[in-house]
Amino acid sequence: MLQQALKVSGRSVSPLIKWLEGWAEITSSAIQQRTEQSVKCLTEMPGPSVVSFAWDLFAKRGLSRLHELQLEGLQRYGPMWKASFGPILTVHVAEASLIEQILRQEGRHPMRSDLSSWKDYRKLRDHDYGLLTSEGEEWQSVRSLLAKHMLRPRAVEAYDHALNGVVSDLIVKLRHSRRCQDGLVPDVGSEFYRFGLEGISSVLFESRIGCLDPVVPAETERFIQSINTMFVMTLLTMAMPNWLHRLFPKPWKTFCQCWDYMFDFAKGHIDDRLQKDAERVARGEQVEGRYLTYYLTQARLPMKTIYSNVTELLLAGVDTISSTMSWSLYELSRHPEVQASLREEVLSVLGTRRIPQAADVARMPLLKAIVKEVHRLYPVIPANARVITEGDIELGGYLIPKNTLITLCHFATSRDPAEFPNPDEFQPQRWLSRDHSHHPYASVPFGFGKRSCVGRRIAELELYLALARIVMEFEVKPDPEGGAVKPMTRTLLVPESAINLQFIDL
Ligand code: HEM
Repeated sequence: MLQQALKVSGRSVSPLIKWLEGWAEITSSAIQQRTEQSVKCLTEMPGPSVVSFAWDLFAKRGLSRLHELQLEGLQRYGPMWKASFGPILTVHVAEASLIEQILRQEGRHPMRSDLSSWKDYRKLRDHDYGLLTSEGEEWQSVRSLLAKHMLRPRAVEAYDHALNGVVSDLIVKLRHSRRCQDGLVPDVGSEFYRFGLEGISSVLFESRIGCLDPVVPAETERFIQSINTMFVMTLLTMAMPNWLHRLFPKPWKTFCQCWDYMFDFAKGHIDDRLQKDAERVARGEQVEGRYLTYYLTQARLPMKTIYSNVTELLLAGVDTISSTMSWSLYELSRHPEVQASLREEVLSVLGTRRIPQAADVARMPLLKAIVKEVHRLYPVIPANARVITEGDIELGGYLIPKNTLITLCHFATSRDPAEFPNPDEFQPQRWLSRDHSHHPYASVPFGFGKRSCVGRRIAELELYLALARIVMEFEVKPDPEGGAVKPMTRTLLVPESAINLQFIDL
């Protein structure tokens, strides 16, 4: 460009050009050298000492406050800091543009994290890995198969009939669980756990397992309890080096017992369902299932792989749905004007119909905005992770060696006032206003890219169908005697205490 610009003034300037070019070359190499020098290494990254972080985690209830520690870390150290989580060194990243950089440079088989204790359990019991825990080609083959049946809009629409059946039972169950005097349902979260489990089971087995019956089967209660305890123990077992497991065996033992029960529960339901199909075939009937377990068997996957995948899908569909439903209705009960607008939107789309279908949701922008806002305020996965296995990367002025565990601090970015004004307030209209813009990676509740949530479309449909029906049937009000409920981390972000709500018939 420089040459072009000077050419116009003729040959006489050629020595000047040469000098200028030489000067430009020296300057650019000096800049490059300076840039290389200014890339710092991990040892120079700020962060709490091993002792002070361990103190925060274990003595100051830090494990359940991990989401708050993100905000504290950001304030104290800036957008990147390192910390040792037990035996694991992890780099925390709490700025949307840096999170974008990490997620956009993923290779063919992105790795979320080592989830070391989950993998250790599977190795110990000789189980296969499911989609949450597998890596590489093994992950890719099941992911492609499930994505075909879980992410394609047409495939997902096919589940709306089954899911609507589960929603109808939820409405009956909520009525049944109300206190007669004031319509209060205590601990709505526990109702939504059962709803989540019944919903994902209907998609996995195309049959119902009775979670919303007046008397819930004991095995179902135990499955839900196992998930809860397993999530508490996940953080603890990961934060403890292996040698500590021998000194304090209880957490690891409890963790394994929970997984044993979850694997047994899934196996029981799979075997049962496949047995019924086999009997129908024996009777000469044609069997053409439309449920996920059937698709997995049709792909001729080994039974061990099917057991582990179904266990992990069941697990993934319970707390995620329960937490989002609980927070959505908690916020709607505290914002009656938003609840009234939502009701108006649903009724105007449905007209005389009472049951929404998947296609109706496209005309319900407020409903979608409410779920987005709930996920921004209470991201189900408050901190996700990535391990870049392909090579070292440069990030925010630091050289991050390959295979470093990088923690993506989604809770911090989605409460960043620079991205979302009044970040602690529930304002679903911010998602509808053209004036507001935020960094696209500031709130990514379902993750991003090839390794993002494979259940996203099913989860969203389930949430939309349930919320639309609930606001049509009830006016939801806060517990007159209850106060504000805060979130806590239990691997996932869940309500710290029971949410009680009044469901008043409309
Ligand atoms: C509100 C509901 C849900 C939320 C917010 C959610 C969120 C997430 C997130 C953040 C991830 C990690 C993505 C990443 O690393 O980039 C994930 C992964 C996953 N989710 Fe969900 N999820 C939800 C519901 C579900 C449901 C209902 C299912 C099952 C039907 C499910 C199955 C999975 C699976 C199997 C993975 C692992 C995907 C892979 O590694 O390829 N999720 N989810």
